[in-house]
Amino acid sequence: MPMHRLHLPDELPDEPLELVSAWLNDAARAGSAMPNAMVLATLDEHGSPAARVVLCKEICIRPGYVTFYTNYLSRKGLELGRNPRAAAVLYWDTLGRQVRLEGPVSRASPAESDAYFASRPWQARLGAWASAQSMPIASRAQLAQSVDDVARRFGTPSPLAGEDDAPDPGVTIPRPPHWGGYHLWIEVVELWLEGTARLHDRARWQRTLRPSSAGFETGPWSATRLYP
Ligand SMILES: Cc1cc2nc3c(=O)[nH]c(=O)nc-3n(C[C@H](O)[C@H](O)[C@H](O)COP(=O)(O)O)c2cc1C
Repeated sequence: MPMHRLHLPDELPDEPLELVSAWLNDAARAGSAMPNAMVLATLDEHGSPAARVVLCKEICIRPGYVTFYTNYLSRKGLELGRNPRAAAVLYWDTLGRQVRLEGPVSRASPAESDAYFASRPWQARLGAWASAQSMPIASRAQLAQSVDDVARRFGTPSPLAGEDDAPDPGVTIPRPPHWGGYHLWIEVVELWLEGTARLHDRARWQRTLRPSSAGFETGPWSATRLYP
């Protein structure tokens, strides 16, 4: 039976995030070009939602959050600063599966962001300095100028002159203070599985999160099957 025809177990598991992690792995194996592309919705100061795609770089099953990286001064960064809650969706058409996540958002620690930043290709590290993400820019040429300026500042070749796989120039490019990770703490998770004759399978897990020094303390999950 193809993977996407399977149902959620009759008895819903106590812990849904193992399943989310398995679905991410299944999507990678099934050949999704970007299995970790995740639509992220935030709210502006008037309560209007905005959504965009980010990459889900990690799912941490315990205590239970997903990590994405961005510019803290971008539109989403500023919105999360004012209202640190978000909703996210992963969808894999090859599998007929959707995951919905909701909950509070906190910044990853500087050490965690540093480690991830250091693992990025040097061109991406320069780009984080060169792009004032979400701010108006006069022209494409101005972006190129900005990239060349930071390349000069850090003593690298211009990434615009070379190939994408140009060798790492081996210089230190520190993480910009305005760039780093966020943890979306999973308070609600919903799994949706495409079924035959539109009889899809759908279930939601919910738990209470209490702020703590380490982020959030997590209560037990309660699971509910839903009409699709
Ligand atoms: C496939 C894909 C992956 C993306 N990944 C990221 C990402 O991981 N982080 C990020 O800041 N923007 C990412 N973007 C760009 C965002 O969708 C968005 O344009 C940008 O973050 C600015 O959004 P904002 O103005 O709402 O803050 C990605 C876009 C696409 C299409």
